[in-house]
Amino acid sequence: MKECYNLEYFEKSASYVREKIDYQPEIAIILGSALGTLAEDISHRTEIPYEEIPNFLVSTVKSHAGKLILGELCGKKVVCMSGRFHYYEGYDYEQLVAPVRLFKQLGVKTMILTNAAGAINTGYRPGDLMIIKDHINLPGASPLRGPNDDRIGPRFFDLCNAYDEELRRLAKNLAGTCRLRVQEGIYAYQVGPHFETPAEIRFLRMAGADAAGMSTVTEAITAAHCGIKTLAISLITNMGAGVDNRAVNGEEVDQVAAESAGEFRLYLKEIVKNMV
Ligand code: HPA
Repeated sequence: MKECYNLEYFEKSASYVREKIDYQPEIAIILGSALGTLAEDISHRTEIPYEEIPNFLVSTVKSHAGKLILGELCGKKVVCMSGRFHYYEGYDYEQLVAPVRLFKQLGVKTMILTNAAGAINTGYRPGDLMIIKDHINLPGASPLRGPNDDRIGPRFFDLCNAYDEELRRLAKNLAGTCRLRVQEGIYAYQVGPHFETPAEIRFLRMAGADAAGMSTVTEAITAAHCGIKTLAISLITNMGAGVDNRAVNGEEVDQVAAESAGEFRLYLKEIVKNMV
């Protein structure tokens, strides 16, 4: 491990951000591939490119903007990442704690994660949303590997409520406000950048997974460690490999994400509005 990812390390990022704002953000939002348009609704905004923030990471994916946006959304003070970090970009697992650790130092209590995912559940279809109720972490590795700073969270910690039950209830109660179908299911995380094989999708279906993706889980684990409540919602952009005898391709993922982004954005705003 190259760095010691302790409290002081991330406090350096946080103090840089804090100097540019005069409030404490309460909600953090991480926007996934091609789902970044929600960031346009943030008012009184302060934008900070990732590369300016000390001890932070830089986004390398084309459909991810790579800036932190702070401001107001539906009357709530938010910090939003338009563009996230993935293991497949070449980061070490341990580095992937950076966003959530920064949120924690800024005083964030609640986090919303969004992502694009492929359906494993044959009852799902592209354009559906899936509230994540649990995950399967296929790599088995943890971003919390390495020395633990007890000031941030305990060495060993529970993941039973990693996807907060109350927040899921709120999202389900608001499902009627959304024109997309809202499912609730289990997210299988694999590191990518390849999509799964048809055999892996069949295997994951037997294991109880409903959708597969390449993000979110490292962030949800890091949040559970430091006590930030998490709501995570996938946009189903395609059927998983082998489900409908078609190859999965990245352009199709981006296209479906773009088509559903407007409706997803309205739904997310409804959720933020109703968060206490
Ligand atoms: N698999 C993994 N990640 C994804 C997929 C998929 O089918 N679609 C969008 N992100």
